[in-house]
Amino acid sequence: MTVILGLESSCDDSAVALVTSDRRVLAQAVVGQNSAHQPYGGVVPEIAARAHVEILPGLIAKVLDDAKMSIREVDAVAATAGPGLIGGVMVALLAGKGLALAAGKPLIAVNHLEGHALSPRLVDPDLHFPYLLLLVSGGHCQLLEVRGVGDYRRLATTIDDAAGEAFDKAAKLLGLPYPGGPAIEQLARHGDGTAVPLPRPLVGSAEPHFSFAGLKSSVQRAVASGSYRAEDIAASLQQAIVDCLVDRTRLALDKTDAPTLVVAGGVAANQAIRGALAELASANGRAFSVPPAWLCTDNGAMIAWAGMERFTAGTSDALDVPARARWPLDESAEKVRGAGVKA
Ligand SMILES: Nc1ncnc2c1ncn2[C@@H]1O[C@H](COP(=O)(O)OP(=O)(O)OP(=O)(O)O)[C@@H](O)[C@H]1O
Ligand SMILES: [Mg+2]
Repeated sequence: MTVILGLESSCDDSAVALVTSDRRVLAQAVVGQNSAHQPYGGVVPEIAARAHVEILPGLIAKVLDDAKMSIREVDAVAATAGPGLIGGVMVALLAGKGLALAAGKPLIAVNHLEGHALSPRLVDPDLHFPYLLLLVSGGHCQLLEVRGVGDYRRLATTIDDAAGEAFDKAAKLLGLPYPGGPAIEQLARHGDGTAVPLPRPLVGSAEPHFSFAGLKSSVQRAVASGSYRAEDIAASLQQAIVDCLVDRTRLALDKTDAPTLVVAGGVAANQAIRGALAELASANGRAFSVPPAWLCTDNGAMIAWAGMERFTAGTSDALDVPARARWPLDESAEKVRGAGVKA
């Protein structure tokens, strides 16, 4: 049996986990920084990086302690090396390098997106390659054919904002706490998803790309009009995002024979989104897999598991491996017209 220590600090969650090759999470800990970023309505990179420096070492000690293990009993150290807020990325990567060097263990530099992409396989031993992945998170909204470890074909991406950003920006407009996704989902339970007319950007278009920036502007107008209840705006926004995700994913399913639809990333924690995509998969004769909510939002277990998959495949990295702010899963994918940095 192999044991891997996973370290994550690419956004505003410091996270550590110990994961085994037989899919057990021996110990894990996540410390978010919501209250530190709350006054700004979004993550402040400088504050996040400084917090990781303070939080991460204690988390590593706690997780090893909880599992009653020493770093010498670990087979390899996996750390997120990007993409993300570069100041934060460097904290876990450098901590990983230090541990690997001191304990004489291999280092595995993990792509955070690969962490999300492979996370369902940690809890679903029957999930085999290839699968169609809808990766929906705070910084990304992509459809990828996952063909194997390190082998991705991007079918679609967002031309502007990510789905998580749409939730977060709308929440800010509604005066809800950051991160906005869980707050909008909560409020939407008491609202009418048909009450506020909102657009479905790119729905029906020929390529399965996404666009969410227009939704934010429409929510802004709905809030400013004073004509709608916050619950109805939240429910209508959630419904618009569900409709966009379902329509675009339906189109992508036509472009792949992959037998399973998988959804991962922070936004996949949303119950309405999980339900709608499960229905879509079933209507198209595909199996459906989604990780539990704790494995959707940023965590150390998905980094340890992606490290495990790479370690099992025989890869590790040299100690001079760089931290990367931008690191696409499909390096050959063309930039989409109108896309900003989120390709
Ligand atoms: N229940 C939910 N409903 C909708 N969105 C949610 C829910 N829970 C979390 N989110 C959203 O998920 C996002 C955070 O996901 P995650 O932690 O994977 O993102 P990230 O790591 O910041 O971005 P990336 O993985 O692209 O680098 C936030 O935008 C948050 O609002
Ligand atoms: Mg993430």
